[in-house]
Amino acid sequence: MSQPPSPQQAARLTIASIARLYAAGERIAMLTAYDYPTARTLDDAGIPILLVGDSLGQVMLGYDSTVRVTMAEMLHHTKAVVRGTKRALVVADMPFLSYGVTPEASLENAGLLMSDGGAGAVKLEGGERSARTIETIVRAGIPVMAHIGLTPQSIHQLGHRVQGKTREAGRHLLADALAIQQAGAFAVVLELVPEQLAAAITERLHIPTIGIGAGAGCSGQVQVVTDLLGMSAEFTPRHARHYAELHSIIKSAAEAFQVDVIAGTFPGPAESTRMDDATLDEILGQTPLDRPEMVEASRGIPLDRDL
Ligand code: KIV
Repeated sequence: MSQPPSPQQAARLTIASIARLYAAGERIAMLTAYDYPTARTLDDAGIPILLVGDSLGQVMLGYDSTVRVTMAEMLHHTKAVVRGTKRALVVADMPFLSYGVTPEASLENAGLLMSDGGAGAVKLEGGERSARTIETIVRAGIPVMAHIGLTPQSIHQLGHRVQGKTREAGRHLLADALAIQQAGAFAVVLELVPEQLAAAITERLHIPTIGIGAGAGCSGQVQVVTDLLGMSAEFTPRHARHYAELHSIIKSAAEAFQVDVIAGTFPGPAESTRMDDATLDEILGQTPLDRPEMVEASRGIPLDRDL
C-alpha cells in the first residue's frame, strides 16, 4: 500500500479520489470526527474520509439516540471538522427527518451541509425508500453516501440487531443496495450485516461498500472514533476494536493535574512568567523592601528602611 500523503502536500479528496482508491482495489478507511482537534489529527494520519456522523448525538452530546440530532448541531460540528482538515473528504450525516419528507427540504438541507457546513458529500439512511431522495440530491450535484442495514435513525423500528439474516430480509437488503447505486450514491455504509451477505453485496456493486459490523469483505471500514480510541468507560460495540485506551489515559492525566494543583506544584517556574520587579513596585506603589520575598527574608531581622 502506498504511504498516505501528508495533508500539507495533498489537495482535498473528492468522490473521484475515492472512486480511484476503489478502482485500485485499495481498502478505504473512514472514521467519524466531530471536532477540530480530532479532525486535524485524523487528517494528519491520512484517513481519506471523515464522517461527521449523527452518532454525534450519543458520543459527543449525550443524547440517548441519533434521532435528537438537529441540522444546527450537524452544521456546527461539520464546520469544525472541515476547518480541521486539509485533505480528507468530509461527509456530513443528514439528521433525522432533514430528508425524505419533501424533495425540496431534502435538497435544501443537503445544500446547507455543503454550502454552509463545507462538507464534500452528505450521507443519508435508507435503501429503496430513500432512492428518490438520493436521486434528487445527486441530480443537484451533491454527492451522496447511502447507509443501509442497521440504520440508527430507525432504531425505534429495527432495534439494535444484525440486519438481513433471514431470506426475505437478506433479499431486501440486496435490493436496497442495488436501488441506491442506481439512484447515484457514490458509496454505501453497510451496518451490522452478516459478513457473507455484506461480501456478496460488495461483489454485486460497482460502488464501494463501507462496513461497520459487516465483516472484512467490504470495500472499506468505518468506525466511530470514540470506540477506536477507547474513550468510553462503558459500552463498546462488539464490532469495534480499541486501538488506544484514551479513557484511562485522560483520567490519569486529570487525576495527576489535580494532585499537583492541591500540592501547589502546578504551575511551576516553567509554566509561569515573571515581570520586571521595579515595574511591579511602581504598579503597587511599594519599595523593593515591601516585596514579599524581602519581607520573608527580613522576618525577625530589624531592617533600616533608609538603607
Ligand atoms: O453516525 C455515524 O457514526 C454513522 C456510522 C456508524 C457509519 O453513521
